[in-house]
Amino acid sequence: MTDTRPATRFPDQKPGTSGLRKKVPVFRQPGYVESFVQAIFDTVEGRDGATLVVGGDGRFFNREAIQVILKMAAANGFSRILVGQGGLLSTPAASCVIRARGAVGGVILSASHNPGGPEGDFGIKFNGRNGGPAPESFTEAVFARTTSLDTYRILDVPDVDLDRTGETRLGEVVVDVIDPVADYAALMETLVDFEAIAALFRGGFRMRFDAMSAVTGPYATAILEGRLGAPAGTVVNAVPLPDFGGHHPDPNPIHAADLMALMTGPDAPDFGAASDGDGDRNMIVAPHLFVTPSDSLAILAANAHLAPGYRDGIAGLARSMPTSRAADRVAAALGVPAYETPTGWKFFGNLLDAGRITICGEESAGTGSDHVREKDGLWAVLLWLNILAATGKRADAVVRDHWATFGRDYYARHDYEELDTAAAEGLMRHLRDRLATLPGTRLGSLTVATADDFAYTDPVDGSVTARQGIRIAFAEDARAVFRLSGTGTSGATLRLYVERFDRTRHDGDTKAVLAPVVEAARALGEIVARTGRAEPSIVT
Ligand code: G1P
Ligand code: ZN
Repeated sequence: MTDTRPATRFPDQKPGTSGLRKKVPVFRQPGYVESFVQAIFDTVEGRDGATLVVGGDGRFFNREAIQVILKMAAANGFSRILVGQGGLLSTPAASCVIRARGAVGGVILSASHNPGGPEGDFGIKFNGRNGGPAPESFTEAVFARTTSLDTYRILDVPDVDLDRTGETRLGEVVVDVIDPVADYAALMETLVDFEAIAALFRGGFRMRFDAMSAVTGPYATAILEGRLGAPAGTVVNAVPLPDFGGHHPDPNPIHAADLMALMTGPDAPDFGAASDGDGDRNMIVAPHLFVTPSDSLAILAANAHLAPGYRDGIAGLARSMPTSRAADRVAAALGVPAYETPTGWKFFGNLLDAGRITICGEESAGTGSDHVREKDGLWAVLLWLNILAATGKRADAVVRDHWATFGRDYYARHDYEELDTAAAEGLMRHLRDRLATLPGTRLGSLTVATADDFAYTDPVDGSVTARQGIRIAFAEDARAVFRLSGTGTSGATLRLYVERFDRTRHDGDTKAVLAPVVEAARALGEIVARTGRAEPSIVT
């Protein structure tokens, strides 16, 4: 029943920030999924007799890819395969299931917040035993394997019924179609105070959770409405759709415009939240106040002790390099270490595994803790609810009180999308070549204090990751960071991150406060001349 078939070698199967991401038509080329998945399986150590987890965010091509992966897994030595019902598993839930069930790892199908549909994006990534994204050594080995692959192995059997829970067999191998929510909900209950949050809802607390027609819908509905008693209709866009209803499932003020309008309107509920395509990102909105992800990370860290899962405090904190320094201020106040890592969740894994940190996050709407090895959108929302229940404060008051204690880090990210790759690389090279000469440069009201190309030495395994973005620190407590996206699927995306700290003034307009930093950064990067763009594609 096992077929060994000739593999096609594709030159472009190099995983990026978060697995292999390509347009759907690329993945639909005959043999494309098969070659990449065989390369993954060839790289997984200890797969004989092991359990594998498979699931995805439900986007277009999810089911087809899952059928191929199940049949290949069954032909590659795994003895048990767990797959979410309907082929669904949010990214954090997949991480949870890998850990809870002692699996050797999991294949997760997602292109996160990128649009779906026949012309949209698709992605495949592998997470290891700890539930976290495979390290670079693994993804590089996978890529190397794709260039030398001759054959792939697959069972020649009918499709698995993904819609009925329970065990079936593929050849000798057990395939267990599991409830995608159960393990995850049980884990959440150990971390946050469900009773206190339920009491909040009983008291008339009003919330809107926008699942953006993506995978978090079933999770948010089961937990918020089912377990915590939030009124029906609290979760909107709750049914996962293969094309996310034609939207961009990215929880930010631009793509979650309806939620923003509601939260800034006359009848704003007490709390607003959204999650992305695969459920690992989150957006938090207080009434009339968008909470930047960098602030949210700092606020969650400062208040985590109010939740049962973090009652004993946190061991340390980590943020990705472009994330604002707000989290560092909390770590300093708590007397715990703060780590600055390259962009991408995989760099948090070692710190979490070693117990050096408890909470971590990124400016790109990712926050998480040591409960899984992925960022976790719904977890962040539940922890926020726990904090609101425990303090009895309004969400906007929690934010303002935080600024009063720690000062405010004004923050924005400017993305220049679909740039000519050579132009974008030229811009970065030009900055890199001038780094040594920049300190002392005066740009408007700002003076460059330091400039470097961020390199990270992992304190746990000593591995070095270089060229992770240009950091420009200004003497006036401001910072600009330049880097190129590692997740884009067409052309290059330049990300410019700008921030400025103000200890005492907290009611400023973010755009106005950051204007001098933006201007300085544009001049330094020669952005307009080199990209031909007068303005960024999107500011978040
Ligand atoms: C982006 C975000 C990054 C995040 C990644 C995966 O990567 O910036 O923080 O970890 O998506 O969700 P980028 O496109 O910038 O490489
Ligand atoms: Zn995501």
